[in-house]
Amino acid sequence: MTDTFKGRDLIGIADLSAQEFQQVLARADQLKRELRSVPQVAEVRGSSARPTLALIFEKPSLRTRVTFEVAISQLGGQAIYLAPADIQLGKRESVQDVAANLSRWVDAIAARTFSHATVTGLAEHASVPVINALSDLEHPCQALADLQTIGEVKGKPLSGGFRDLSGLKLVFVGDGNNVANSLLLACARTGMHMTITCPEGYGPDQGILARAKELGAASGCQFEVTSALHDAVRGADAIYTDVWTSMGQEAEAEVRRRAFGGFQVNAELLALARPDAIVLHCMPAHRGEEITSDVLDGPQSAAFEQAENRLHAQKAWLSLVL
Ligand code: CP
Ligand code: NVA
Repeated sequence: MTDTFKGRDLIGIADLSAQEFQQVLARADQLKRELRSVPQVAEVRGSSARPTLALIFEKPSLRTRVTFEVAISQLGGQAIYLAPADIQLGKRESVQDVAANLSRWVDAIAARTFSHATVTGLAEHASVPVINALSDLEHPCQALADLQTIGEVKGKPLSGGFRDLSGLKLVFVGDGNNVANSLLLACARTGMHMTITCPEGYGPDQGILARAKELGAASGCQFEVTSALHDAVRGADAIYTDVWTSMGQEAEAEVRRRAFGGFQVNAELLALARPDAIVLHCMPAHRGEEITSDVLDGPQSAAFEQAENRLHAQKAWLSLVL
């Protein structure tokens, strides 16, 4: 099974077929179990050829940076963190030259970029696998961990470690951003329904929405974008939210705060969902804005499990492609 993954890029969720999506999640579940039962983790290569992962970050990060560093270290390899000032991607040197140089030294590149075109440019010019660690269009690593989390709580076990998520309803409250875009495609790959409820003008990328509808058609996925917040949340199995202002949009923060005012996941909103609904947040969270502390820290929150699963999901991907 792993041969089909060797050397592959992960730029967006649609890069994975429905079968491959399940394979990555099954591997992540397995790695999570192994890590808990056996403290040491098998190396993917001999110690003489420890895989090296370059981490290019144009924006700040806690979870993504730490989980990639821990994942590659647990797999017997090492990470090299490159901060924005280190390489000045596209300014000091072209994306093409950075990709070609790094490919001579490292085994994989993970990149967090402002523009999605930067990460696709790296993938085009690198001869090693490139992983999108968040761009303005997608956050595929987040979506893998999110669906692993939903699967753990709500998924019906299938053979091969796969989980049946079909028919579950995910409601995303807030900005139709990079996280929402990848979730649309992840729902399409797993047969989940997804509603995005947001103020007018803050919906998801139209191209991604169309692609999700196309990919999810065969499994009967329903996708909806609506500003009717309360109606949207009814019957939700999982409620997801993210910040109103993403990295790179800071100049719009005040306008966005006004536009998103009512779009808050709080106890009153959560009461409209199914009683066993879980609450997800990719974090960082702005407590008191898109989510209240009582909900984020409450019994229905799976946000910290979700954060943990970033490690297992990315480790699964690295172990498959390296
Ligand atoms: N969720 C997420 O990607 O977190 P960081 O920005 O801290 O990496
Ligand atoms: N939508 C957020 C996600 C952060 C993990 C951002 O892009 O800033």
